[in-house]
Amino acid sequence: MSEASTFRIAVLASGTGTNLQAILDRLHGRHGIGVVGVGSNKNDAQALARAEAAGIETATFERDDYADRVARDAALGDWLEALRVDLVALAGYMELLSPELVGRFANRIVNVHPALLPSFPGLDAIGQALDAEAEVTGVTVHFVDEGVDTGPIIVQRPVQVPADHDRDALEATIHAIEHELYPEAIRMIAAGRVSLEAGDPALVRIAPGD
Ligand code: GRF
Repeated sequence: MSEASTFRIAVLASGTGTNLQAILDRLHGRHGIGVVGVGSNKNDAQALARAEAAGIETATFERDDYADRVARDAALGDWLEALRVDLVALAGYMELLSPELVGRFANRIVNVHPALLPSFPGLDAIGQALDAEAEVTGVTVHFVDEGVDTGPIIVQRPVQVPADHDRDALEATIHAIEHELYPEAIRMIAAGRVSLEAGDPALVRIAPGD
């Protein structure tokens, strides 16, 4: 794959990084896509080890190393710009991005969330769905705006909550779907098939594939 034609992705992750791994396994070095950097707010995130194993540049932006969130996100934004990223994929990144950073990469940041947004935004979406005794929850991939899980929705897939409300089983099903749906959505974006409707910023259009 030539450098010039590569669609360049950075992934930001705080935790185990199974979604990062799915992106690496399904997209990196294929379909004209390259993961060029993995960033974290935690030095010990397992996601960083996954990136290093794949030979991908890593960087950490820990809260305590900066005066405030704006200063930290300015450094993060400089790093992303230096990598010349086309897209930033949040994958379990447990920090709210500053409005300045969101503005710098407007409509170029995506996230995966373990619920059918706008239901159950924020932390522990799976627990929220169980507490609400929802029969159906799911997975959403969306663009990131300044709110918490409020940006324009790109794709969603429903998941039936097990009759016995078993959390482990529901989590396993949701994560398996995330690992399919997130790379699929990123691949559509890389192919230029995903656009925002100018007259309605909440509306995402997906052009048909081949
Ligand atoms: C996923 O459930 C994702 O939806 C949420 O955070 C979790 C990250 O898991 N935003 P992992 O680190 O990718 O395993």
